[in-house]
Amino acid sequence: MPDVDATKESKQFFEDVPAKTTGFFLKGSGALDWGMRNRLARVFNPRDGRTVMLAIDHGYFQGPTTGLERVDLNIVPLVPHCDALMLTRGILRSSIPSDCAAPIVLRASGGPSILKELSNEELAVDIEDAIRLNVAAVAIQVFIGGEFETRSVHNMTRLVDLGLRYGIPVMAVTAVGKEMVRDAKYFRLACRICAELGAHLVKTYYVPDGFATVTASCPVPIVMAGGKKLPELEALTMAYNAVQEGAAGVDMGRNIFQSDCPKAMIKAIGKVVHANLKPAEALEYLASVSREA
Ligand code: R5P
Repeated sequence: MPDVDATKESKQFFEDVPAKTTGFFLKGSGALDWGMRNRLARVFNPRDGRTVMLAIDHGYFQGPTTGLERVDLNIVPLVPHCDALMLTRGILRSSIPSDCAAPIVLRASGGPSILKELSNEELAVDIEDAIRLNVAAVAIQVFIGGEFETRSVHNMTRLVDLGLRYGIPVMAVTAVGKEMVRDAKYFRLACRICAELGAHLVKTYYVPDGFATVTASCPVPIVMAGGKKLPELEALTMAYNAVQEGAAGVDMGRNIFQSDCPKAMIKAIGKVVHANLKPAEALEYLASVSREA
């Protein structure tokens, strides 16, 4: 029996109400396709446009990093407290339960170990495998000024083309060689090149002098990389300053999982990023969560 299309009057077309056209909350992302924006909206909280990403991909070039020796024991309990989890497919498949709710940002480059020239990377994941793993984004290292600069940029542009084909955002990670000066001028250059060549988000380091110029001159969201382990107050201060100076959150590893109380630290970082808690208050909060733990 076909649906009886009764009189027009029985249906509600709201002819006088203009259709809603919604923008997109994330910087520079309004012209992306629906699937791409949907994935970005899983990585970044649509309420404030920020993320606390937990980076545990270090093993892809440096093996069992301190704090990551047993991902099943040390990291899995932290996952409910992050907005996104950045890791390799090997650790994802072997050690992360598949009912994990956190969106996955998949490390997609690799090749050299710490024993070799790190900029000599290749793409290390087939985009079909990223799709199979239901990832929210893929991540790739870009070595501006590095020995294999052009190769790493070309890896990124190939990944961007693949990501665009399937609706998967690409996060470019600006890698800094030992010989390079870590200042705002360098990071403006590196981040802008990544964005100009198609990265949908960029992970880069905080610099105390001029970080706001790095975020301002990058047309897509920047997440702050953590770097080596600092005292908790310093790490909280760095995260606070980064988001106040325009970062759309953080992607931190060692400063969380090498902390004395990683769960308290990731929760404190969450307060800094999503509630603008000042560093000293966040440290107090960290201490209270540690005591409870
Ligand atoms: C960059 O080289 C990789 O993504 C690292 O494994 C990760 O970013 C390091 O995170 P963190 O410096 O916060 O320990």
